Amino acid sequence: MVKRKRRRLKKSVKNIFLLLIVVFILSIVYLSTDKKEPVKVMKTETPKVLKKKKEKKNIDEDSFMVSCKKLNYCKEEFEDRYKKYKEEHSNLSIEDIVTYVNLNLDYSFYTHTEKTPILNKETMLVNKYLYLDSDYVPDNLEAIQSEYSRSGMKLVKVAKDKFVEMSKAAKKDGYSVIAMSSYRSYKYQVNLYNRYVKSDGVNGADTYSARAGFSEHQTGLCVDVYDGKIDYTNFEKSKSFNWMNDNAYKYGFILRFPKDKENITGYQYESWHYRYVGEEIAKYIHENNITFEEYYVRFIEPTI
Ligand code: DAL
Ligand code: ZN
Repeated sequence: MVKRKRRRLKKSVKNIFLLLIVVFILSIVYLSTDKKEPVKVMKTETPKVLKKKKEKKNIDEDSFMVSCKKLNYCKEEFEDRYKKYKEEHSNLSIEDIVTYVNLNLDYSFYTHTEKTPILNKETMLVNKYLYLDSDYVPDNLEAIQSEYSRSGMKLVKVAKDKFVEMSKAAKKDGYSVIAMSSYRSYKYQVNLYNRYVKSDGVNGADTYSARAGFSEHQTGLCVDVYDGKIDYTNFEKSKSFNWMNDNAYKYGFILRFPKDKENITGYQYESWHYRYVGEEIAKYIHENNITFEEYYVRFIEPTI
């Protein structure tokens, strides 16, 4: 009897022991699956990280537009173009991005053109995007007196008067500033450009000559000068050029196609081509070393 009882007890102890082992194994398994939790967390965090990144990008882009809207020349409808240009030119300031896109510089020259909106005013802009009709002839064209000009050269009266005043002042200081090409008709420019294309091809001609309708010479507000001696293309080498550098702006004239601004003006440097814009604008452009294009976008276009 006692022996049987003992055997039963032994069996029970054995069963309990086995049960404990099973429980132990199960808890190990449970604990090890628990340890895998962080992996699960990592997996769910990946989209979170992506979301955060996206949010940050949106904030950057939004802050771009917030800054843009502080500029009175920011055009909200150009938002996509600004952002694309910003991605391609990350070194540029917001002001430059907005200015260049407003000028259509994100498009190739001559691909997106429109009639220039201001006519017969010294604030008008003609370039590779803004053109004049073939029949546009400025009002008040007057001949420049022969002492300061090759024969037959004309400018719009206000520009002519200032040009003569400037040439007189240069003469008084011992220099010489003579007009060799000023107002040019549409037809004249057709022939001139075609002649250049014949000798240098379209790509070559486009670097230094405007296509008809796109030449500032048709405005009657600009003039190519020389010192009466050396060829106008070498004007930069003359002392009269230095005088013009220091004084032209005082008479309302600016060097229209400066060095290192070809990407904005579309033309190679021309030391001889001066544009009348009025004294106030000329002073600002001279002091801030900007092109007329930049001035136009920032100060003239918003007032149209
Ligand atoms: N040379 C200037 C760009 C013109 O042809 O108007
Ligand atoms: Zn010129």
